[in-house]
Amino acid sequence: MAEKTSSVAIALAVLACLAVAHRHVTSAQVVSLDAPPPTTVWSGVYTEADAQRGKIAYTKRCATCHGADLKGGPGVAPIVGNPFFDRWHDLRVFDTFAYIQSAMRHDFRNFVPANEARDLVAFLLQQNGIPPGNQPLPKDYGVLNEILITFPPEH
Ligand code: HEC
Repeated sequence: MAEKTSSVAIALAVLACLAVAHRHVTSAQVVSLDAPPPTTVWSGVYTEADAQRGKIAYTKRCATCHGADLKGGPGVAPIVGNPFFDRWHDLRVFDTFAYIQSAMRHDFRNFVPANEARDLVAFLLQQNGIPPGNQPLPKDYGVLNEILITFPPEH
């Protein structure tokens, strides 16, 4: 009889543990569903060196149409300041990268290789007052696609 009682007690204890463990798992899942704040361009996503290479590529490939100051010209919209943020906010750095690589190639001779397109993105970010950091702009498209472009934070 005593043995029976204790095995019931053990069974109950095991059940209780399972219940607690289960609650744990559930709350952990809830926590992981709470999306972490997205990485934005304002957290130092390119380096000064990236932007410097980007400037060279820009002068070579883009300045004829977009102007040395990025303010555009007849038929070409500015790519600095409010127009930049109006156009790109809530999109991802990958979108700008892909745009430069695809829409801005104009002809096959002027196709922009991926490494230059990345540098050009860094240059664009820099020219729009977005500060550099210690890590180069990531090569991985998935990671680039996680970096959100947002309006400048309120001062
Ligand atoms: C032959 C002229 C020409 C060249 C060269 C050129 N662009 Fe453009 N670009 C344009 C025009 C025109 C548009 C506007 C297209 C539109 O918005 O319909 C544009 C649009 C853009 C935009 C989007 C505009 C926006 O509102 O943000 C970006 C970014 C851009 N260009 C970057 C570049 C970069 C970087 C290069 C160099 C690799 C480059 N362009 C080379 C003519 C050019």
